[in-house]
Amino acid sequence: MKEILATSLAYVVLNVPTTAMVVDGSCNATDQWVNISWPVSNATDTTYNNMVFIFHNNATTKTYSLQNLNISLAAEVFPNASSTEPVELWHGSGWQTPLATSYRCAPATQLNMTADSTSVVATLTLSQLQEEAFRNSTNKSFSAARECGGNDVPDAVPIAVGCALGGLVVVVLVAYLVGRRRSAARGYLSM
Ligand SMILES: *[C@@H]1O[C@H](CO)[C@@H](O)[C@H](O)[C@H]1NC(C)=O
Ligand SMILES: *[C@@H]1O[C@H](CO)[C@@H](O)[C@H](O)[C@H]1NC(C)=O
Ligand SMILES: *[C@@H]1O[C@H](CO)[C@@H](O)[C@H](O)[C@H]1NC(C)=O
Ligand SMILES: *[C@@H]1O[C@H](CO)[C@@H](O)[C@H](O)[C@H]1NC(C)=O
Ligand SMILES: *[C@@H]1O[C@H](CO)[C@@H](O)[C@H](O)[C@H]1NC(C)=O
Ligand SMILES: *[C@@H]1O[C@H](CO)[C@@H](O)[C@H](O)[C@H]1NC(C)=O
Ligand SMILES: *[C@@H]1O[C@H](CO)[C@@H](O)[C@H](O)[C@H]1NC(C)=O
Ligand SMILES: *[C@@H]1O[C@H](CO)[C@@H](O)[C@H](O)[C@H]1NC(C)=O
Ligand SMILES: *[C@@H]1O[C@H](CO)[C@@H](O)[C@H](O)[C@H]1NC(C)=O
Repeated sequence: MKEILATSLAYVVLNVPTTAMVVDGSCNATDQWVNISWPVSNATDTTYNNMVFIFHNNATTKTYSLQNLNISLAAEVFPNASSTEPVELWHGSGWQTPLATSYRCAPATQLNMTADSTSVVATLTLSQLQEEAFRNSTNKSFSAARECGGNDVPDAVPIAVGCALGGLVVVVLVAYLVGRRRSAARGYLSM
């Protein structure tokens, strides 16, 4: 994860550690989100960076997509900045995917991040990304993947199950986002 702050000319590269935790999340038939948090190193009293993925399910088009990816970085990340407020960054919608299909971006993917204050612009680089929201299947494997910028291969059979599976998806998602060096199998076992 790279952060480039334009006006302050601070250049900070942040890696989301493998110890990042899912601290919160929620899911229903139309909206699902997950909040991933990790402590800021070097802080005297621990503060946290966090990253929230928000997915929306469009019943009309039978697709779900990322609605927002919001990141909050503790002020400690930018020791030279005058502000003591966290830096809030966000990215808009994307990753449109048919239901019962996962979304995969094997190559590193760059997302442009914007802030409420137009002076802050950052780039977020995600590696080995694979996500799937609004799952009904009890299968611990991802459904067939739509490759970013490529073709989709939707063929999994949906099974009507409740919201509890959201947590499962979330853990898999996190394992992929955070545990870059772990194999997929290891990620599943850790659940
Ligand atoms: C903060 O400012 C000092 C002095 O200008 C500089 O040496 C240091 O690299 C800066 N730190 C960051 C994180 O920008
Ligand atoms: C689903 O959750 C979102 C936010 O988590 C909420 O705004 C929305 O009202 C919920 N929808 C239903 C149908 O419960
Ligand atoms: C995410 O979690 C952090 C740490 O618990 C919290 O401060 C933040 O408000 C949460 N963000 C959302 C959108 O829930
Ligand atoms: C953490 O603190 C140590 C000692 O103060 C310093 O040498 C190091 O550069 C700091 N690391 C970061 C990432 O700020
Ligand atoms: C679903 O997608 C259609 C076509 O893009 C759009 O018109 C509609 O507003 C969307 N509905 C929801 C609930 O997002
Ligand atoms: C994410 O950021 C956008 C833009 O600032 C905001 O509209 C949205 O409410 C945020 N969502 C969450 C869950 O914080
Ligand atoms: C999961 O089940 C819900 C409720 O039956 C349905 O609206 C949704 O489309 C299903 N999702 C998938 C991926 O099949
Ligand atoms: C990100 O921003 C850069 C610089 O403004 C621009 O050249 C690039 O096209 C943007 N990328 C995307 C995916 O919007
Ligand atoms: C789970 O999905 C994988 C890949 O689609 C498939 O190979 C496996 O047989 C499925 N397992 C079950 C129990 O359905």
